[in-house]
Amino acid sequence: MGSLRGITVAVLVVQALLASVALVSAQGSSNRSRWQTLNGDVPFVIARGGFSGMFSDSSPAAYRLALLTGPTNVILWCDVQLSKDAAGICFPDLKLDNNSDITTVFPNKQKTYLVNGVATKGWFSVDYTLKDIGNVILNQGVFSRSNKFDGNNYPIMTVADTYTLLKPPGFWLNIQHNAFYAQHNLSMRNFVISLTRNVTVTVDYISSPEVAFLRSIAARFQRSTTKLVFRFLELDTVEPSTNLTYGSLLKNLTFVKTFASGIIVPKSYVWPVDSNLYLQPSTSVVLDAHKEGLEVFASDFTNDVPFSFNYSYDPVAEYLQFVDNGKFSVDGVISDFPITPSAAINCFAHLGRNASKQVDLLVISKNGASGDYPGCTDQAYTKAIQDGVDVIDCPVQMTKDGTPICLGSINLIDSTDVAQSSFSNLSKTIPEIMQGSGIFTFDMSWRDILSLTTAISSPQSEYKLFRNPKFKNVGKFLTLSEFLAMAKSASSLQGVLMFLSECCLPCRAGIWCN
Ligand SMILES: *[C@@H]1O[C@H](CO)[C@@H](O)[C@H](O)[C@H]1NC(C)=O
Ligand SMILES: *[C@@H]1O[C@H](CO)[C@@H](O)[C@H](O)[C@H]1NC(C)=O
Ligand SMILES: *[C@@H]1O[C@H](CO)[C@@H](O)[C@H](O)[C@H]1NC(C)=O
Ligand SMILES: *[C@@H]1O[C@H](CO)[C@@H](O)[C@H](O)[C@H]1NC(C)=O
Ligand SMILES: *[C@@H]1O[C@H](CO)[C@@H](O)[C@H](O)[C@H]1NC(C)=O
Ligand SMILES: *[C@@H]1O[C@H](CO)[C@@H](O)[C@H](O)[C@H]1NC(C)=O
Ligand SMILES: *[C@@H]1O[C@H](CO)[C@@H](O)[C@H](O)[C@H]1NC(C)=O
Ligand SMILES: *[C@@H]1O[C@H](CO)[C@@H](O)[C@H](O)[C@H]1NC(C)=O
Ligand SMILES: *[C@@H]1O[C@H](CO)[C@@H](O)[C@H](O)[C@H]1NC(C)=O
Repeated sequence: MGSLRGITVAVLVVQALLASVALVSAQGSSNRSRWQTLNGDVPFVIARGGFSGMFSDSSPAAYRLALLTGPTNVILWCDVQLSKDAAGICFPDLKLDNNSDITTVFPNKQKTYLVNGVATKGWFSVDYTLKDIGNVILNQGVFSRSNKFDGNNYPIMTVADTYTLLKPPGFWLNIQHNAFYAQHNLSMRNFVISLTRNVTVTVDYISSPEVAFLRSIAARFQRSTTKLVFRFLELDTVEPSTNLTYGSLLKNLTFVKTFASGIIVPKSYVWPVDSNLYLQPSTSVVLDAHKEGLEVFASDFTNDVPFSFNYSYDPVAEYLQFVDNGKFSVDGVISDFPITPSAAINCFAHLGRNASKQVDLLVISKNGASGDYPGCTDQAYTKAIQDGVDVIDCPVQMTKDGTPICLGSINLIDSTDVAQSSFSNLSKTIPEIMQGSGIFTFDMSWRDILSLTTAISSPQSEYKLFRNPKFKNVGKFLTLSEFLAMAKSASSLQGVLMFLSECCLPCRAGIWCN
């Protein structure tokens, strides 16, 4: 498989970097850890259902890819469900119809059960023996992800077999629905106790959002290496065994510490976002939990769901915000794409602006930092320089009054509001330049172009992926000489790149000539 070869190379690079990181810290004179985790340890990467962003959650392929691409101490996460005959399986959802082909193997077997008091329809594991489940195969349950790997006969595996097959460096069991299984006379407590008695299986963490379940096993695990973790759900959701909301349970971490050594919180508990996806100041939850001696694991990290604009669509930047922000670090992140937190933690953390290149390769901007600001504006170029670009680019266009300027397109409609302005009557069709009509730079004076409102480009807007709306109309365009002056004053730059192709077209078409 061609893609796997690429992955192997990536792993070697990560390992090489890890080795050099270890060397640097061994030589350091101070013993104070650079990680603001509870114990100063490097934050863990927990692969939720394996590399579930790619393969079906909980499949052997997803777990193997997590082992290949995660850090060497990656922890594999298994959501435990119980069969009618009390076998524990790894499966991401209480309902088997999401993530498997059970609806075609056992058609018309849908049932309705109460789940935390809510009538819920679906196919539930409590109605099937382990033998029945052996006929069912896993599918990709998140429909925006590729279904190309479906039909590969990935079996649903028992928890013990998952461990024995993969021998992961870390193993995490999440028990999301103890109360539901208890209603069906199935005991999660008996299951986890008998599993952890099996000497061939090592369970490092058991998590649950149910207080009663963790309290029921707390004494049993007090002197064990298996750690218990309380999982917080949304703030206003009611915890079934206490009738308190998770928001109010968060106010008494001393209570949580009586039955758990750590907590899982959705990432928004740590860094909330507002309704427009802008990051708010961090809460004190990590520091508060550390004060109680609780480890903190943040969940809900994915690479393929829109996240805060503050990260500029860079998931590495998001992980760094949680593990390397100067104030605190979470003790682990729970991710569907474990290769990304692995890179963030092992390659990018604690570099600040000191990163040095592995190879001598030029980084050249495209219309400045045009993903963050309207292209070719002073703001876009300033950001590109701040971000450490080697070369800034200027696609040169000509104005009516003969001023060379920088603009991504000869057609002003692409980067300004000209079509909505009083200059919209300048629209014309010039087949030598482009199909359809446009409003061209060589038909407007520099002064008039400066009076237009700049517009950020959003090439993926048909998929509802927009670029930072706060900055969509900011910044000022530059003449070529202003651009060159800016480049000259930025000592970090190695050069500039000018594109001249479009500016010469009107000349060839006999429209504008000096
Ligand atoms: C730092 O660590 C080394 C090796 O673990 C130990 O010998 C030394 O005492 C430590 N120094 C301090 C100041 O804690
Ligand atoms: C299946 O579960 C995932 C989360 O595990 C969810 O995002 C998705 O919408 C679910 N699909 C259906 C059809 O319920
Ligand atoms: C322990 O787990 C292994 C692997 O699945 C299994 O073969 C074995 O029967 C289990 N032992 C006990 C005592 O449950
Ligand atoms: C669970 O066990 C109780 C008592 O043995 C019994 O009354 C009840 O019907 C059982 N429930 C289910 C769902 O099997
Ligand atoms: C929680 O509330 C429900 C309904 O209000 C009640 O039936 C139940 O006894 C309560 N449970 C606890 C543990 O307080
Ligand atoms: C928090 O929990 C502890 C331990 O259970 C308890 O003693 C204390 O009263 C609780 N505090 C509040 C404010 O509820
Ligand atoms: C996120 O970006 C917005 C808009 O630029 C800014 O107001 C806010 O302070 C940023 N949040 C953080 C935590 O930096
Ligand atoms: C970057 O390097 C400077 C100078 O060597 C040093 O003072 C600074 O702490 C470094 N920053 C980080 C984040 O390592
Ligand atoms: C376009 O409209 C402006 C006023 O909005 C006017 O001054 C100008 O002459 C018009 N140009 C053409 C080519 O019609």
